[in-house]
Amino acid sequence: MKKLNAGVIGVGFIGAAHIEALRRLHQIEVKSIVDETEDAEKKAKQLGIDSWYSDYKEMLADPEIDCVHICTPNHLHFEMAKNALLADKHVICEKPLTTDVTEAEELVDLAKKKGLVNAVNFNIRFYPLMHELSAAIRKGEMGELFSVHGSYLQDWLFHQTDYNWRLEKSLSGDSRAVADIGSHWMDLAEFVTGRRITAVMADFATFHKIRKKPLKPVETYAGMLLKPEDYMDIPIDTEDYASILFRFDNGARGSLTVSQVFAGRKNRVTMEIAGSKKSAVWNSESPNEIWYGRRDSANEIQLRDPSIMHPESREIVSFPGGHNEGFPDTMKQNFSKIYARIRDINLPENYPTFRAGLREIVLCEKIVQSQKEEKWITV
Ligand SMILES: NC(=O)c1ccc[n+]([C@@H]2O[C@H](COP(=O)([O-])OP(=O)(O)OC[C@H]3O[C@@H](n4cnc5c(N)ncnc54)[C@H](O)[C@@H]3O)[C@@H](O)[C@H]2O)c1
Repeated sequence: MKKLNAGVIGVGFIGAAHIEALRRLHQIEVKSIVDETEDAEKKAKQLGIDSWYSDYKEMLADPEIDCVHICTPNHLHFEMAKNALLADKHVICEKPLTTDVTEAEELVDLAKKKGLVNAVNFNIRFYPLMHELSAAIRKGEMGELFSVHGSYLQDWLFHQTDYNWRLEKSLSGDSRAVADIGSHWMDLAEFVTGRRITAVMADFATFHKIRKKPLKPVETYAGMLLKPEDYMDIPIDTEDYASILFRFDNGARGSLTVSQVFAGRKNRVTMEIAGSKKSAVWNSESPNEIWYGRRDSANEIQLRDPSIMHPESREIVSFPGGHNEGFPDTMKQNFSKIYARIRDINLPENYPTFRAGLREIVLCEKIVQSQKEEKWITV
């Protein structure tokens, strides 16, 4: 098998997770990293990577890099993805693909023109039981779909003093909670059900209208008690919370609640689907089991066990039942499919492409419009 070289731009939370996932796959080497800080060298050395840059364009000039992973704040995705494609690199971009529809459309067109592999890391699809539910729905095991609802709840922005670049519109985009985590849920809902969202109705809330931004990098304060003079007041103009109603193309109805200020829910996605034969409930904090509900016989819990799963979900399971898999495995499985197609372009695009990234930007724009105009918006 041909060895492929990856280059990762932005080694923060998710960039480091990309590197770990890539290293668990065969015949892929993380050849270079890019980070804007003087930390690039330190991070590369810690990770045992011999090549690092502070300007991503220098990495794009390396002919040995096959695939570029874009793991920087959202506002940089478009320019970086465009230049990577122009440099003839395959691209895996973090979500959201861009911060507006026009840019996402341009990337879809450019990737197609170049014939390069293009993907977005909507990794939640790659929890094996989400592939399993998708297969069950496609085979008619749930019957006709009545409704799809759920939530994506986090608490890492709960306190007024919690601060991150995502709170600044210029870095994150017009929508925060919906684009950041709601996009994962909507991608999952359409992937699992095979149905398309046709209309949205949204209500947003910003509970912390002013947040306290630390005046120095947060790491500087490790172990210290912050004093009032260590913060600056910043007005917040993106949503902490959103509730959204959906209509699907088969007549099914749906609803989603997203919140980044829900104490105690660390990073919890729930997906609840009601069908005419049975219903299904899953959440990402217990990802190795799914509940099926029945009206006329006993309910059941299915554990992630490849020996009793559909072939299309079995293929993204690496370990037997009881040997639990989680968040890091979802990225490993997504990248496995993407790199397989980099090796053989004739394989199916069975991973989220830039087109899936564009789809989420379109949905987010419609949701923001619905919130502003206080009415249903057709997608
Ligand atoms: N798929 C997922 O589950 C998931 C989870 C978290 C984040 N994300 C996405 O990943 C992206 C990054 O989020 P994060 O939480 O890792 O952020 P982060 O702040 O932890 O990391 C971002 C990194 O990018 C670097 N960076 C910034 N500007 C740069 C530049 N010009 N060139 C090179 N490096 C630069 C920063 O120094 C930092 O190391 C976001 O788009 C986010 O939406 C996806």
